[in-house]
Amino acid sequence: MKIREINFEDYESLIKFWKENYFINEMDSPDRFKLFLEKNPYLSFLMEDNGKIVGTVLGSFDGRRGYIQKLVTHKEYRRKRIGKQLIEMVVKELKSLGALYIPISCELGNTQFFEKSGFKKTNQMAMSISNSTYPYKKF
Ligand SMILES: CC(C)(COP(=O)(O)OP(=O)(O)OC[C@H]1O[C@@H](n2cnc3c(N)ncnc32)[C@H](O)[C@@H]1OP(=O)(O)O)[C@@H](O)C(=O)NCCC(=O)NCCS
Repeated sequence: MKIREINFEDYESLIKFWKENYFINEMDSPDRFKLFLEKNPYLSFLMEDNGKIVGTVLGSFDGRRGYIQKLVTHKEYRRKRIGKQLIEMVVKELKSLGALYIPISCELGNTQFFEKSGFKKTNQMAMSISNSTYPYKKF
C-alpha cells in the first residue's frame, strides 16, 4: 500500500469511493473539488492498494489554521492504521506550512481514533451555518 497526492484526475474514482464508504453532497462537485485542490496544493492524499483507493484525506490551510476533511478509510480496510497514516501525513504538512491550530469536529464514535492521532478533546461545541445538505443527506 502506498500514499500519494490526490490530483484532479482522481475525481471520478474519489466520488465512487466516498459514495461507497462515507457520503458525498454538493460540496463534492467537480468545480468545487478543482478549486479546493488549486487553493490547497500538496495537502490532499490517498492510500492505494494495488491501484485501488483504500483511504483519503483532504487538507487545507488558510494562513492561520489547518483543516481536515474527507478522512475516510475503505469499509473493508478499517483498523489497519490507514486513517492514522493519512492524518499523520496531512498534519505534518499542515504544521510545516505553519498551521498553529487544527480543529476537527467528529462523530462521538470517532473520538478515540482522533485521540490516538494526537487530538485533544475541548470543552467547545461544534456549531455551523449550513447552506448545504451537509451532513444530513447521503446520496
Ligand atoms: C475514522 C476512520 C477514518 C478511522 O480509520 P481507520 O483506518 O479504521 O483507523 P486506524 O486503523 O488508523 O486507527 C488508528 C487507531 O484508532 C483506533 N480506532 C479507529 N477507529 C476507532 C473507533 N471508531 N473507536 C475506537 N478506536 C478506533 C484503532 O483501533 C487504532 O488504534 P491502535 O493504534 O491502538 O491500534 C474510519 O473509521 C472511517 O473512514 N470512518 C468513516 C468516515 C469518518 O467518519 N471520518 C471522520 C470524519 S471527521
